[in-house]
Amino acid sequence: MAGKIVYVGMSADLIHAGHLNIINRAAELGEVVIGLLTDKAIASYKRVPYMPFEQRKVVIENIKSVSRVVPQESLDYTENLRKVRPSYVVHGDDWREGVQRETRQRVIDVLKEWGGELVEIPYTSGISSTQLQAAVKEIGTTPDIRRSALRRMLQVKPLVRFLDIHNALSGLIIEHTSIQCETGRVEFDGMWGSSLTDSTAKGKPDIEAVDVSSRVNTLNEILEVTTKPIIYDGDTGGQCEHFVFTVRTLERLGVSAIVIEDKTGLKKNSLFGNDVPQTQDSIENFCEKIRAGKRAQTTDEFMIISRIESLILEKGIDDALDRARAYLDAGADGIMIHSRKKTPDEIFEFCRRYRKLENAKYLVVVPTTYNGVKEDKFSQYGVNVVVYANHLLRSAYPAMVNTARSILENKRSLESEENLMPLGEILGLIPGTK
Ligand code: SPV
Ligand code: MG
Repeated sequence: MAGKIVYVGMSADLIHAGHLNIINRAAELGEVVIGLLTDKAIASYKRVPYMPFEQRKVVIENIKSVSRVVPQESLDYTENLRKVRPSYVVHGDDWREGVQRETRQRVIDVLKEWGGELVEIPYTSGISSTQLQAAVKEIGTTPDIRRSALRRMLQVKPLVRFLDIHNALSGLIIEHTSIQCETGRVEFDGMWGSSLTDSTAKGKPDIEAVDVSSRVNTLNEILEVTTKPIIYDGDTGGQCEHFVFTVRTLERLGVSAIVIEDKTGLKKNSLFGNDVPQTQDSIENFCEKIRAGKRAQTTDEFMIISRIESLILEKGIDDALDRARAYLDAGADGIMIHSRKKTPDEIFEFCRRYRKLENAKYLVVVPTTYNGVKEDKFSQYGVNVVVYANHLLRSAYPAMVNTARSILENKRSLESEENLMPLGEILGLIPGTK
């Protein structure tokens, strides 16, 4: 065994006995080199790791039988294996099925190039990262961890997706809904604190009539039962003098970002465009608001994203870009560009030119009307955040109206039952109900 190198690829985010079992078995075969997956590599097929690479590296390199740690930049082992040329790769046998199946086959093929061998170790039952993750979620999070989560995601994921919240239940749907597809597990990265859906859920118009205290009440209920990051729709941000307090409040709660739109006076929903009177703020005033907000924040992670309404108000792409440049100079951490066109042409044109700006930062889009565009396409145009701004509430409302109508029509609830969540399910939905 002398001089033999054993390569073990792992994420090592929540270290458990299963990892140590693999490392110890690997050490019996030779000198253990850990290929530690980078944050980007992990985020490419599951969530962003709890611990950043550097912290995971410290943990893993201090394990007795580990001799060396090298970064593994992708889920695929090929590049590192050709560099390290190990005699063995050791892995749990759980990767024969599922998303890692092809990765496994490539490991076998590459090892053949120098006569290396894949050694698989029976999966340690009774403990898994997935179970630990569920436990971590149950414990919850802290404002500091949640606030910084958005920046961490944006550093390692080409694109993140956010969905609207208007109460705690909508937050729970975003927290727990995921699907398994060929490339791994897909879920929402976080929650959009929509002013439209929060106002609508309260039966009030989306004109800043639901005040910040009430909006924060909704947020608090959501924060209590979820862990994912929140981008808060701050409407116009109000007066500069008031905006600074909103920034501090959100920051203290653990919200990651506020989006403020460059409108002034009585705010109306952007999807009306020029069908209702709406006034855009001057570049100068709006920059002052951004600067005041940036001065007020106390952490490095909190973000102020400026939303440009030029396309909504048909002022053109040049105006939108002038504003983007100025807002970024004033300290905005990113730009949300909004459009209510059915086609994405003007958005794509904006994105293309935005990415050429010297001071370009994050870019956020809200594809409510141009909803035929898939996320990959936005990513190609340099978009960082896609916001599905109102879809949960819009799906709930017709379902509820249909049930109400069905009961009225039939004078009983039997006919509506087939569209309802089974009783057993609602009783089991929220832990602790029993
Ligand atoms: C919201 O969700 O409240 C928004 C997006 O601001 S939109 O309704 O499209 O203006
Ligand atoms: Mg809004």
